[in-house]
Amino acid sequence: MSENSLEDFGFREGINEVIGITKGVSDAGNVNSAPLGIVVKKEGKAIRTFVRLFGETHTLKNLRANSKLYANVCYNPLAFAISAFEDLESEYFLNDFTLKGSYSVCVFEPISFEKRENFTICELKFVEGFIVNPKAVRAFNRGFCAVVEAAIIATRYTGSEKEIERLKELERIVNRCGGMEEKLAYEYIMSAIKCNF
Ligand SMILES: Cc1cc2nc3c(=O)[nH]c(=O)nc-3n(C[C@H](O)[C@H](O)[C@H](O)COP(=O)(O)O)c2cc1C
Repeated sequence: MSENSLEDFGFREGINEVIGITKGVSDAGNVNSAPLGIVVKKEGKAIRTFVRLFGETHTLKNLRANSKLYANVCYNPLAFAISAFEDLESEYFLNDFTLKGSYSVCVFEPISFEKRENFTICELKFVEGFIVNPKAVRAFNRGFCAVVEAAIIATRYTGSEKEIERLKELERIVNRCGGMEEKLAYEYIMSAIKCNF
């Protein structure tokens, strides 16, 4: 990636899990928030960025209506857990497209939509990025990753034995490696899907 590029704002090749803010349809005013995986792919010298959107979510509706996508790079387990199910209230925001505690925000414009069998591919154009917190140094925490993993399972939860086993394993990791915020986020996820083993 070139200088002053996505990499400067914390993105890498692969799927970058962020909290995506869009404007338009939302349960909390007109600012919508949802965890999203933004794919960064090197194609020769070019960099392609896109997101796969499953189902008719508010995010998809807003992007179709030409909202910009404000991708917040953050490690806030509660924000990931809550925004997977409901929109974040104003107390989570620093301004109308930045979450408190985000390290950076990258602004994307939707440039095209392609409907596939199970999802829609939205191609994105990187417009600009902002560093919110320049002291973004932190160690890898398995508990945080387990929360993100559990939130992904929870948004597609069917109640299968396989999912329950995986959630139990993730709970062990959260309890062992996470802090209070990871534990609260995990509890929130389990209550959102009404799962208690
Ligand atoms: C870590 C994580 C990543 C996610 N990535 C995507 C994604 O790339 N595309 C998608 O459609 N849904 C994704 N989801 C699920 C959406 O966040 C979820 O469906 C959300 O409820 C959509 O909210 P909205 O209706 O406000 O847009 C992800 C969930 C989590 C927890």
